[in-house]
Amino acid sequence: MPKSEVVYLNGKYSPKAETSLSILDRGFLFGDGVYELIPVYNKKIFYIDDHLNRLRSSLEQINISPLLVKKNNFEEIINKLIMLNEYINHYIYIHISRGVDQRRNHIYTSDCEPTILVMGENYKPFDYEDIVKGKKAIIEEDYRWLKSNIKSTSLLANVLIKNKANTCDAYEAILLRDGFLTEGSASNIFIVKNEVIKTPKLSNKLLPGITRKFLTDLIAQHKLHYHECDISEDELLESDEIFCSSSTNPVVPITHLDNKQIREKAGPVTMKLYSLAQNYIRNSYL
Ligand code: PDD
Repeated sequence: MPKSEVVYLNGKYSPKAETSLSILDRGFLFGDGVYELIPVYNKKIFYIDDHLNRLRSSLEQINISPLLVKKNNFEEIINKLIMLNEYINHYIYIHISRGVDQRRNHIYTSDCEPTILVMGENYKPFDYEDIVKGKKAIIEEDYRWLKSNIKSTSLLANVLIKNKANTCDAYEAILLRDGFLTEGSASNIFIVKNEVIKTPKLSNKLLPGITRKFLTDLIAQHKLHYHECDISEDELLESDEIFCSSSTNPVVPITHLDNKQIREKAGPVTMKLYSLAQNYIRNSYL
């Protein structure tokens, strides 16, 4: 690994420690931006088309032209960062803010040039033993805004909720809005009941996770039972298995909810999906 990691900012590659941004950047002042987090396995970018499609959709929904994704060749930028930083298995963070304005004002100027940052992020996925053991989650009220389908950098509510989970020694907070499951503070949530895998339908209340899409592709290929539907708090509490999905850890079994043990260890359907995901990644990327 080279001494200083190289990042990409607005067309330039430079060492992370020497790269800085204006204090008038709207991403800093207002959280006015969107992002993506993309896994890299064996130097290859995972589900890149889906990640870039979601990025386009996020940009469009905050009134930044999605043509920005066409103008900036993100695949080329990421591949260059992989090469320069000698990344093998890593994560890439793309952050696009509305850009720098002349002064702090809620109303943005129309000629603001978006700030584009691409950099590596280091996460260590859970090892197999941790997965089998399962993790704890807490249940929280989903008090976020009603545009949770946008991968916005305004993450204050998610940050507060995830930190509450962390202080309770939990991996994740599972969110309920009006008594129904939405998602986790940083993951999508699935339950299993009578061998049927269930997750909420896509809507403005949850992020269309790329790992969720990857898992539903696997579910379809392997003809597992699957249903997208509303999931009430009671159904969540009475489910046979629960798991979270995200780019950092594709399948994370939940064995404890609040202070109640719901299973001794990860359930069979969750473990099957975990193995299918690991095998797919190994066969297609490693
Ligand atoms: N978060 N829901 C929320 C609120 C999330 O923050 C994430 C991911 C997901 C899963 O999305 P995906 O499968 O595309 O990673 C669902 C990432 C990992 C993050 O914020 O760092």
